[in-house]
Amino acid sequence: MTVRTYTPRVQDPSRVAALVPGELRLRTLRLGADAERAFLGNTGTLDPHFLRHFTGAGLLDRFGRALAERSAVRVKEWLEACEFFGRVRRRVRAPVVADIAASHGLVGALYALFERSVAEVRWIDRSVPESRAAVLAAAVEVAPWAAAKLRADDGWLAERGAALPAGAALVAVHACGALTDDVLALAIARGGPVAVLPCCRPHGRSPAPAAVARALGGDTGFDVDRTYRLERAGYTVRWDAISAAITPMNRVIAAWPTRE
Ligand SMILES: C[S@@+](CC[C@H](N)C(=O)[O-])C[C@H]1O[C@@H](n2cnc3c(N)ncnc32)[C@H](O)[C@@H]1O
Repeated sequence: MTVRTYTPRVQDPSRVAALVPGELRLRTLRLGADAERAFLGNTGTLDPHFLRHFTGAGLLDRFGRALAERSAVRVKEWLEACEFFGRVRRRVRAPVVADIAASHGLVGALYALFERSVAEVRWIDRSVPESRAAVLAAAVEVAPWAAAKLRADDGWLAERGAALPAGAALVAVHACGALTDDVLALAIARGGPVAVLPCCRPHGRSPAPAAVARALGGDTGFDVDRTYRLERAGYTVRWDAISAAITPMNRVIAAWPTRE
């Protein structure tokens, strides 16, 4: 396993200018207009400059403050993780949750902080960035109970996935290309709920009919096929999205075994 260094990026003003107001709305993070302007489109680090936007006494604000004090993650990573978690947490949870392609580990940390029914979160990634240790420290500072729940189980999904218990909930944010399909296949094999935010799709290997891909676009064609696969395996599937102002790769696919 390798440890990556973390390189912060600077804000891209053209991206902010290009945002359409209707796209801006965040649902999980309740930010004022001033804070939304500061966060959305910012590709830099969530650093102490952002502390003034985390003024509440609630756990999410306290976690945000602890992350910002450590300059632990990028603003975009924070927004993505919070908004994704907010969309899927009710349907996709189990005593064991695996945050696959976890990288910094924010999604898993949010499960440990906020979901009482979750006893254990496993972070799985073949490569661990320095930001992970800072995320863990921030989580434990604001929620000491998270220490007993958060477990680094890093390595290749093909190895670590095999050790997950039946019924484990799987979450994966931007698990590149076919890794998302591996996550869905693992969820079906384990019989637990799953949520993904797909990113690049391996279009050359698209299983969607060419007509569907042409009419709806290759990415949507790919996700339609994923949906069929899940439904055939007995899952109820929902599509949702996080704000396109956070990422253009914003479709959320959540699925859980259909009760008879
Ligand atoms: C695009 S990053 C997404 C990271 C994070 N979830 C996020 O959204 O910021 C994809 C991550 O998947 C990990 N990864 C790629 N292939 C993997 C595999 N076969 N098993 C485990 N991790 C893998 C990479 O190391 C990388 O951290």
